[in-house]
Amino acid sequence: MAQIISEENRLKVYVETYGCQMNLADTEIVLGIMNKSGYSPTQTIDDADVVLLNTCSVREHAEEKIHQRLSVIKKQLSGKPELVVGVLGCMAERLRSNLIDRHRVDIVVGPDEYRKLPELLDGALAGSQGIGVRLSRTETYDDITPFRTEGISAWISVMRGCDKFCTFCIVPFTRGRERSRSLAGVVREIEQLVGQGFREVTLLGQNVNSYTDSGSDFADLLSAVASVDSRLRVRFTTSHPQDLSDKLIETIASHDNLCNYIHLPVQSGSNRILEAMNRTYTREHYLALVDRIKSRIPGVALSTDIISGFPTETEEEHRETLSLMEEVRYDGAYMFKYSPREGTPAYRLGDDVPDEVKSRRLAEIISLQQKISGEVNQSVVGKTVEVMVDGSSRKSDLQLSGRTGANKTVVFPSGSFKPGDLVKVKIGRASSATLFGEPVGGFN
Ligand code: 5AD
Ligand code: SF4
Repeated sequence: MAQIISEENRLKVYVETYGCQMNLADTEIVLGIMNKSGYSPTQTIDDADVVLLNTCSVREHAEEKIHQRLSVIKKQLSGKPELVVGVLGCMAERLRSNLIDRHRVDIVVGPDEYRKLPELLDGALAGSQGIGVRLSRTETYDDITPFRTEGISAWISVMRGCDKFCTFCIVPFTRGRERSRSLAGVVREIEQLVGQGFREVTLLGQNVNSYTDSGSDFADLLSAVASVDSRLRVRFTTSHPQDLSDKLIETIASHDNLCNYIHLPVQSGSNRILEAMNRTYTREHYLALVDRIKSRIPGVALSTDIISGFPTETEEEHRETLSLMEEVRYDGAYMFKYSPREGTPAYRLGDDVPDEVKSRRLAEIISLQQKISGEVNQSVVGKTVEVMVDGSSRKSDLQLSGRTGANKTVVFPSGSFKPGDLVKVKIGRASSATLFGEPVGGFN
């Protein structure tokens, strides 16, 4: 029987989430686990009995931010010795007890050990430190109901881990091997979300295209999810180019509510660098895939990830990345300087592209992408798009902000619309990041 704990006896947990969307989804799983064992979430750190940071290791800068944050928390909370501080996520997995040595943290828990949190917290509240960093080949938290606050858009992790071993990436070491949730479990969760009024779901995984459950692949999962409710918008991320099948392209093309937006990280436009990164596709294979996607899904939006200054990258190879961007004409991109991660295969190659060269190459990549995004957005001016309202725009309560199926942010006058409404908006002007327009009709 579930334990019933009165509200005043519940301890309060405050969580800060860093890094990727998987971490946002994991935080909801963590809160789901903790809620069941007598904790209530709080938005204010000063009210908290337990403070948790869900962390990211993907670049050194991400880790530095957490180290700084832990130092600030330590100072800020020095008058509260009974407070429990914990580190979760990829940094917990990577740095383990080093975190306890370096900071005043009580618990360190990696991505596959969140079920142990209540037990580790009991220990920490009684004054002992605890570590849970074993990776699992089977843990998917399939039976855990995530604790969600917002009522329109939900993240759902459908697979965990990564077996790709791109040579620059720490994720296969911090999140372990690939494993998938059951198709039935995902569909059940989505039916519940629809019942609760959610209007959009994003299926998450480091590499969703390798989803597999008893003979069903990711295309089968997407079809099943799309069929739950034809008005539910369905998104997914991240796709690895090697595993994005023609069946998946056909599936997206044939369901109106599967959003015409694919995040398809390329990382580099040079075949030599792609090989050194162990990306397992060539520039030609990638471009042919993009052609197939564009011809089968008219109006599809594509975004990507790009790394500048991978070890040994020459100027010519950098220019191949720029030329690939011109060929694909991405709607958007996440662009990074290469950051060496100890323990990854690329770490052994050294970090021989000087920082100022990496920065200059990155600046060129960013400025080209801004130009392309501006042009792509300009081509929408004069057209009418369907927008799902997210809420007030960041700049003014008189303006609403929402997103198109292609994931473009649209800002328009508030009127009487509310979050979750679908509104037709005629676009009047565009920047490289945002479309601006006037509603020409709303419907549910
Ligand atoms: N340095 C820079 N960028 C990285 N990424 C992953 N590892 C590194 C690294 N060591 C980027 C990749 C990946 C995205 C999530 O983060 O582009 O697709
Ligand atoms: Fe990292 Fe590559 Fe796996 Fe993405 S596909 S998580 S970049 S190893």
